[in-house]
Amino acid sequence: MKTANVCIRGRSSRHGMRNARKSTIMGIMTEHTQLIDAIDIRTAVRQYDAEPIDDDQARQLTMLLDAVNLLGDLHLQLIRGFGDVFAEANDEAHFTNARDYLAVVGPKQSNEGRERAGFYAERVALTATLRGWGTCWVAGSWNARQAARHCDIRANEELYLGIVVGRPRDQQSYMASGFDNLTTFQTAHRPSKTYEQVTAGMDDESRQAAPEWFRHGVEAVLKAPSAMNRQPVELSYNAEDDVATAFIDERCRTDGGISPLQYVDLGIAKLHFQIGAGSGTWAWGDGGLFLHR
Ligand SMILES: Cc1cc2nc3c(=O)[nH]c(=O)nc-3n(C[C@H](O)[C@H](O)[C@H](O)COP(=O)(O)O)c2cc1C
Repeated sequence: MKTANVCIRGRSSRHGMRNARKSTIMGIMTEHTQLIDAIDIRTAVRQYDAEPIDDDQARQLTMLLDAVNLLGDLHLQLIRGFGDVFAEANDEAHFTNARDYLAVVGPKQSNEGRERAGFYAERVALTATLRGWGTCWVAGSWNARQAARHCDIRANEELYLGIVVGRPRDQQSYMASGFDNLTTFQTAHRPSKTYEQVTAGMDDESRQAAPEWFRHGVEAVLKAPSAMNRQPVELSYNAEDDVATAFIDERCRTDGGISPLQYVDLGIAKLHFQIGAGSGTWAWGDGGLFLHR
């Protein structure tokens, strides 16, 4: 079984690591314990400060990308200073000062690649949140062709989508507003499916009987970003085997199929669940199982 191998709360990776990169990866593991805080306050940020990310911040982010690329077998890149990619979205005031972005690059025409990209790039977005930066995933609100020109895309790769990163406008007053206000804003800033809706395959009795880790995992999924806020991922708990499953809700499928963006949504939801549940690993894929440990 192939699994999502980011580690939670100090657990070690399932796959071998090269010693040279071990310390960076150990660093991102330690930080993982705090990511639940990031989930509780993260929202899509569309207004950015006129001042771009500086070299030092860029270096920190690039170190994290190196580690995550190794874990996820991806090619995420930080691209800075290209407002041309967002010219239309900035002109239309959909974004303000969008200019720096993570290019989410991975294996060509690979559903699992997209799912892994959702999982690992959201991992980076949550770390950026902890550092006080804003992020917004972008599939449509940019010039993807122009964005690709600024990236390093190998023959067997493609640019899936991007994540705008930057200092949020009014960052200081935002950060000064306090953790409780930020969490209240996170839960109220957009409509969300309910716990019952994203566990629609379970009856009330099995929801009641599900362990706490499952409930916390689902709650973290409700706070996850998703394309057009569709929240297409459904979860269920199987008491017999003590496992959770994540799959794309039948009602969100087109002609019975899963869209490329929904694979990204699936990866993002799995990361949020894993962090909310506290520890455990997912198998990739629609219907992949989560083993809690
Ligand atoms: C795969 C994906 C693609 C997205 N594409 C865009 C986009 O093109 N433009 C945009 O403004 N927001 C985009 N978003 C952000 C979503 O609209 C946002 O996550 C969703 O409305 C939920 O809001 P929240 O992130 O504040 O919780 C995208 C999100 C995801 C996960």
